[in-house]
Amino acid sequence: MSLLPSGLTGLPAFDIGIVCDALSGPGYIAVRLTDTEMLGALRQEARALWQDDALKPAGIGRAEDHELTARVRRDKTKWLDGSTPGQIAYLAFAEALRQNVNARLMLGLFAFEAHFAVYESGGFYKRHVDSFRGARNRVLSTVLYLNPDWREGDGGHLRIYGEGDSVLGELRPEFATLAVFLSEEIPHEVTISHRERFSIAGWHRCNDLGLAPALQVRALPIAP
Ligand code: OGA
Ligand code: MN
Repeated sequence: MSLLPSGLTGLPAFDIGIVCDALSGPGYIAVRLTDTEMLGALRQEARALWQDDALKPAGIGRAEDHELTARVRRDKTKWLDGSTPGQIAYLAFAEALRQNVNARLMLGLFAFEAHFAVYESGGFYKRHVDSFRGARNRVLSTVLYLNPDWREGDGGHLRIYGEGDSVLGELRPEFATLAVFLSEEIPHEVTISHRERFSIAGWHRCNDLGLAPALQVRALPIAP
């Protein structure tokens, strides 16, 4: 078990081989992380940010057309800036993932940006991809879910699409579940959520940070 600079102990573990096999096959996978102090800290932080009204309606990276945006997505977000022990631990975890994926798949992942997100009751994110093919900025998407006891009827599923309208899978946003998928290849959607749904959506990029000027944290060292 490694001791992180944050004072939180342990990075969550999962089988990187399974993740890389899935990425070079179907292009998406969900894994369950081992529970660590980090996950509880991140859940608490997400809830506190929401209660303090620090999560703000997200945009869609195009014109500031608020009506259009509200038809496409209804989530509230805040970029991670590495300012808390939970965030430091998560950025270290993302860095470990980056190095392992680069070593095995040579994706050239370079920098990581991530935000806390809440989908309040009625929240959704219509079908989209996280990066347009050829733009080559966001390469690998990760979503960490922070919701204990999520029931089927609570909605808020991550729905993964194949060709046309075919649905390849749906994922409940249960605590400690991590979805990993190729940003340019995998169309996905968040179905309507019926209660507050917390997560951290993050993207490994092959170039410098674009959307998150506040987050200039990259390549955090990992203690041996
Ligand atoms: C996103 C996204 C999926 C989820 O933020 O781009 O697709 O399950 N999130 O929260
Ligand atoms: Mn997305």
